[in-house]
Amino acid sequence: MKLSYLWRGLPGHPLHPPFTDAVIGTYTVATVLALLDVLSIVDQNAAKGWWLALLVGLVVTVPTALTGFVEWLVITWGTPLWRTATAHMVSMLSATTFFLLAALLGHDGHVDGDVTAGPFVLTLIGFGLLTLGGWLGGTVVFVYGMRVLNLRNEPAMRASMPAPAREKELADKG
Ligand code: HEM
Repeated sequence: MKLSYLWRGLPGHPLHPPFTDAVIGTYTVATVLALLDVLSIVDQNAAKGWWLALLVGLVVTVPTALTGFVEWLVITWGTPLWRTATAHMVSMLSATTFFLLAALLGHDGHVDGDVTAGPFVLTLIGFGLLTLGGWLGGTVVFVYGMRVLNLRNEPAMRASMPAPAREKELADKG
């Protein structure tokens, strides 16, 4: 049992991806609600939901970025994988900055139940950067295979189990 399992997760079950699901889902909800408000499909409530979703997204971004950062630290510097993961990091941190600005500048609009032009554009830019970052994160995992074990013939029960008992076997892959 390695101590790093606490911040990196188990072999085959890294910690970063589940956090990313929550963050991407929350910012997506925020963007859709902003759009519903701006298109006047839903009034007031959509603006309130947009701002709250931004706030939840920003909070969940903290553990997401931290778990991503500890993964990034173990990559060999200067390699193509490192360059891709670094571009992913820059894109996600930039997206976070835009969402933060949208939440700060959009607070009054949230109180009045209205998503104003500036915070709306900031939300859209944040979502664009989030999409780019997600693409690059997917490249790190699904093209380079980072944290992927790819044990095609592993029996289903064994594959679903936490893996510490087999850590020596999986050390090079996890
Ligand atoms: C809002 C913040 C972030 C989001 C939404 C995010 C999203 C993602 C996504 C979607 C993946 C692909 C894995 C999957 O499909 O689940 C990924 C992988 C990865 N990300 Fe992030 N990321 C964020 C922040 C960061 C930061 C700040 C770093 C580095 C400092 C980072 C480093 C990595 C690494 C190394 C991987 C590949 C290994 C792994 O999945 O554990 N991420 N990220």
